[in-house]
Amino acid sequence: MKKFNIALDGPSGAGKSSIADQLAEIYQMKHLDTGAMYRAISWLLNQEKIDPENDLAIENALKSAVLDLPEDGRVIINGIDVSEIIRTPEVSMLASLYASKAPVRQKMVELQQKIASRQGFIVDGRDICDVVLPDALVKIYLDASADARAKRRYLQDLENGKSVEYEEVLRQIEQRDYQDRHRAISPLKISDQAVVIDSSQLNIEQTVAKACEVVNERL
Ligand code: C5P
Repeated sequence: MKKFNIALDGPSGAGKSSIADQLAEIYQMKHLDTGAMYRAISWLLNQEKIDPENDLAIENALKSAVLDLPEDGRVIINGIDVSEIIRTPEVSMLASLYASKAPVRQKMVELQQKIASRQGFIVDGRDICDVVLPDALVKIYLDASADARAKRRYLQDLENGKSVEYEEVLRQIEQRDYQDRHRAISPLKISDQAVVIDSSQLNIEQTVAKACEVVNERL
């Protein structure tokens, strides 16, 4: 099969990662989770106490940052395995904050484009369709209502033994949506070229089936 890239955008908690993992298996592609990249960099900048308002300090810190994404799905930054810590709600908020800063976006987009230039990647994030991979063969925007996303995350957290309040999960999702949609650089929006899949009323299998229809039409 010809090698191609799939761009997958959408708000937090829409299920992009699960869908991307399944598409990667079906089409024998690799999944690049750009959210994990922003999370790792933001975790590091916060550890180093870099002021989010100081572009120069961010640029300097980024010069020595080495992000390693081995095939087993781990996320390693400057030799530290941050795969688990970057999934906390605190790091979600930090990522949304630092991801609005120009030097961070510049470095991440460069790296993502370099990785995906080999083709055969399904890349998920917020700015993939229009900024990172404007030439991707397939472009999908995976949407779901804030309520549906919060419910899924809440149930997931309960399953993982975390004690959480639904209202708090919803508040965090709405806050991150707001920040990601209203930032000056590369805000989250539906690309004119993307096919929108609304998964509010769909389970994973149904969502994957819809995404496969979109992909198959382009092949
Ligand atoms: O997708 P995930 O929730 O892991 O992303 C964490 C944060 O990273 C998002 O809330 C967003 O602010 C940022 N992000 C971004 N651009 C991307 C991927 C993620 O700004 N391509």
